[in-house]
Amino acid sequence: MPGLRILVVHGPNLNMLGQREPEIYGKETLAEIDARLGATATSRGAALETFQSNSEGELVTRIQGARGCYDWLILNPAAYTHTSVAIRDAVVFSEVPAIEVHLSNVHKREPFRHGSHLADVVVGRIMGFGPKSYDLALAFALDSAPAA
Ligand code: DQA
Repeated sequence: MPGLRILVVHGPNLNMLGQREPEIYGKETLAEIDARLGATATSRGAALETFQSNSEGELVTRIQGARGCYDWLILNPAAYTHTSVAIRDAVVFSEVPAIEVHLSNVHKREPFRHGSHLADVVVGRIMGFGPKSYDLALAFALDSAPAA
């Protein structure tokens, strides 16, 4: 049986993890997070790809292209969470079950971060655990594998 195919998508400014507000987002870089997720997926027989962009249109195009190609989308839309109907529409179009991830607990932060255009179209949301939010999302996706 082929393994799960998982796409991890990171939105704007997440390429600056490690340097960016480490008291909020931690000290780990995006490359380190992606490498760990990839190693975990490989150890479980899954294939994991990662993508980061600062551009809303590039994120939309990548998510559109996920249709029919992946079993799970793990998505941190970053600031676009709170603004982008376009990314929401792309997630719906993709028909790939999605998990929304945030490093910080957005509900403990400024009111403009409390809304999410994704919240009602994703399977679930994981936030507030720093970089481990991604690992928790991946753990759920990997456990979804049908028994061999
Ligand atoms: C974030 C939270 C967003 O509000 C913020 O704009 C980000 C990162 C998080 O992972 O905590 O860029 O998505």
